[in-house]
Amino acid sequence: MSQYSAITGWGMYVPEKVMTNADMERIVETSDEWITSRTGIKQRHVAAPNETASTLSIAAARQALERAGIEGKDLGLIIVATVSADYPFPSTANLVQHALGAQCGAFDMQAACSGFLYSLSIAHQFIANGSVKHALVIGVEVLSRVVDYTDRATCVLFGDGAGAVVLSASDQPGGLLGFTIGSDGARPDLLWIPTGGSAEPATEQTIRDRRNFVQMQGSEVFKFATRVMGTAMEEALANAGMTADDMDLFIPHQANLRIIEAASKRLNLPSEKVFVNIQDYGNTSAAAIPIALCEAIDQGRVYPGAHLGMVAFGAGLTWAAAVVQWTAPIATQENSYKAAKAGVKTGTHAEQEKVQV
Ligand code: UT7
Repeated sequence: MSQYSAITGWGMYVPEKVMTNADMERIVETSDEWITSRTGIKQRHVAAPNETASTLSIAAARQALERAGIEGKDLGLIIVATVSADYPFPSTANLVQHALGAQCGAFDMQAACSGFLYSLSIAHQFIANGSVKHALVIGVEVLSRVVDYTDRATCVLFGDGAGAVVLSASDQPGGLLGFTIGSDGARPDLLWIPTGGSAEPATEQTIRDRRNFVQMQGSEVFKFATRVMGTAMEEALANAGMTADDMDLFIPHQANLRIIEAASKRLNLPSEKVFVNIQDYGNTSAAAIPIALCEAIDQGRVYPGAHLGMVAFGAGLTWAAAVVQWTAPIATQENSYKAAKAGVKTGTHAEQEKVQV
């Protein structure tokens, strides 16, 4: 029985349409200056009418499968983390399973922005106990469908996208080394969609009151996030027998640049060890970390042996963190992708040398 679970494939997809801060200025009373200084966001991607959580997921998943060198039929498990599924039921994972030609169990996981790391920790259990060889873990959101474009306090923050990884059984030490998941449901109203569930079914009145859209008490969530990001990351590191100093790259949830900076400061991390791409995507909730991971790989910041720390927080409230020691040979796996995206540098010379060690 293999006890290690390694990321062997990765992929991302974001819709083509971009909404800049200037576009937001035309919709609500806001400014590029406010959005940039309070959040770090410059633009976000928005799904086309024919795009859904499952179509975004499938695009990201196909890339991840290709990089892992496997097909849908090789998968033993599919988990889709999302709060913006195609339907209340069936799950988006069911749709993804069918499209990929997989013949395995598939389910959606709901822990809001923490959903991808929750899902990674679940997939890890299936692999560590020997029941699954390859698991597909997807984080996806089409938040543009559930965001209230008359509420400037929320609509400027969120974006659409998907990221996916293949987690595979391995005898080689590394992969997911430690994690933590947490929940505090005392204040569901801090970040929620109040209507549409069994507590408050949709009526003409609730829809008129726009209660079928995201509502958030931003500053309360902000305070929680700055508290929990550092402690959750430290807990996952401790579970892996490590400290923040051992991290080569910190890939935090991309919700607010100020929150990322506060967490990095608490963990005493220099900026070169912190990955940030919130400026390009806004907050894509469950998709944020796998998208950031893909871009970090693309930028040559991930290499075999590197210790990656990932941490997220979100509605619930929830939080989760994971430590992964990278094992996939990026230098070779990236070649086909590099060819497709000519000119993109995927690894510095020093990192390539580190691969040889
Ligand atoms: O993944 C988890 C999801 N959520 C989050 O991570 C959100 C966490 N919270 C945050 O990131 C921040 O709280 C926000 C970016 C949402 C807000 O920043 P803030 O510094 O906490 O601002 P605030 O909510 O205290 O609002 C300050 C002011 C208010 O005006 P007054 O009452 O001081 O006159 C707001 O009405 O900014 C105003 N405001 C805006 N002004 C221009 C709120 N949204 C906007 C806007 N443009 N888009």
